[in-house]
Amino acid sequence: MTLLIPEKIKMDDSAIKTLETIYANYSAANDNIISALQEIQKAFGFVPEESVYWFADKSGVPMSKFYGILTFYAQFHLKPRGKNIITACCGTVCHVKGAHRVLFQLNEELSFPPGEDTTRDGLVTLEKVACLGACSIAPVVVVNDKVCGRITPDNMVKKIQKLRDKDK
Ligand code: FES
Repeated sequence: MTLLIPEKIKMDDSAIKTLETIYANYSAANDNIISALQEIQKAFGFVPEESVYWFADKSGVPMSKFYGILTFYAQFHLKPRGKNIITACCGTVCHVKGAHRVLFQLNEELSFPPGEDTTRDGLVTLEKVACLGACSIAPVVVVNDKVCGRITPDNMVKKIQKLRDKDK
């Protein structure tokens, strides 16, 4: 089959080789699209648009089917993510306990590009969730899987500084 990937989104040889392997697994697993997308995300850290073009063309499955899955499941990421993930709770209890001040400080410190949730240097991706299920220690953020309760704007600044120091 001739691949019809537009020139501007052509992937390099190593990426194609990775996709070929994932495609072989996909075919062996009765065309399980979710598993294939999970493998793509594991390989690239997110699901690049180019990989979806490639996979749709190779498999004959419409792009819309891939994007239907990618946009339905929160586990999939369509953009590169930062080295560190900060998950901030914006639930009612956290809000009442001052989460908005923590979020304000986070935004001040990290200066996300307009409309983006990842810093320009790729250090941090910020995710917001409705409730982390830890309301008793609100306000709560999770920094790389570590739950931080009763967080204050000052604590948040220190945690970000630690991430910066670790990255040097
Ligand atoms: S509202 Fe934040 S943990 Fe429940």
